[in-house]
Amino acid sequence: MEMTVRPRRLRGNDALRRMVRETRVDAASLIFPMFVTEGSHKKEPIEAMPGQFRYSLDRMGEALDALAEAGVSSVMLFGIPARKDPVGSQAYAPDGIVQRAVNRAKVLHPEMFVITDVCMCEYTSHGHCGVLCGHDVDNDKTLELLAKTALSHVEAGADMVAPSDMMDGRVRAIRQALDAHSYTGRPIMSYAVKFASSFYGPFREAAGSAPSFGDRKSYQMDFHNRREALKEALLDVEEGADIIMVKPAMAYLDLVREVHDATTLPVAAYSVSGEYAMVKAAAANGWIDEEKIMCETAVAAFRAGAGIYLTYFAPELARCIREGKIG
Ligand code: PBG
Repeated sequence: MEMTVRPRRLRGNDALRRMVRETRVDAASLIFPMFVTEGSHKKEPIEAMPGQFRYSLDRMGEALDALAEAGVSSVMLFGIPARKDPVGSQAYAPDGIVQRAVNRAKVLHPEMFVITDVCMCEYTSHGHCGVLCGHDVDNDKTLELLAKTALSHVEAGADMVAPSDMMDGRVRAIRQALDAHSYTGRPIMSYAVKFASSFYGPFREAAGSAPSFGDRKSYQMDFHNRREALKEALLDVEEGADIIMVKPAMAYLDLVREVHDATTLPVAAYSVSGEYAMVKAAAANGWIDEEKIMCETAVAAFRAGAGIYLTYFAPELARCIREGKIG
């Protein structure tokens, strides 16, 4: 049999397979999303996200210690306030839950890179990502509150802010607010390409942030659209975003690749709560190998062009990287 090109030649040996590997992964690229809540002595399990918890401030150190131990150096905080109101005032309260959590994280682990999710849905009584005008979210009024929220996070010590609300113009509004207060060096990671997705279901249970009426389709993107994803990404580049995120990850890897190719910014992919829940549920039934599926899925995001990966599996993935199971 005459055959000069034999792809299997490069697969016959583990050292060789590693040598020719095209995608390298590093724990430095991982961000762990974490929920913080009011009260004390709390480590409340999130039912649809086995292994994930809502931590009160006095116990969040346990999670941060475990992250640091695992080699994960970035965390993104989501706050669950005690009180919600129509204008989400706890989102920008200087002593709000996230503001205090940022502060505490920086005291406990000064080396940890602390990112905050900037949105209103966890803080509004109606669960929408902005203030309402009738049944619609008022874009421009919401911008002021988002800018105020982002500024309060940075004033509390956040290293980076990540707006997830999908209002038009929020990156510019936040950039201007930060710059006006001399935080010109604090980056913005924009949830630029964020779809109205059913993959957020478990998160909304965790954060109690499901909209009380309607849905988020008037601000989050329609998942049929590809060119609109580029429009959103390019717009955020123009407005001054430093990192562009695509969310969810697994069902949207085509767009991770497109955004990677169309911009010069680092691209982040967020493997959301529903993705985590699916892996956990199938593994609990013995139907899949949890660790292998987790590794394969993460590598796929990096292969698609993500340079940053947000995942509830961050500490487990970091361990797999250290053990040479991927990387
Ligand atoms: C806030 C926000 C959501 C998520 C991240 N930021 C929920 C939503 O948009 O409904 C989802 C994260 C996840 O599902 O893991 N707007």
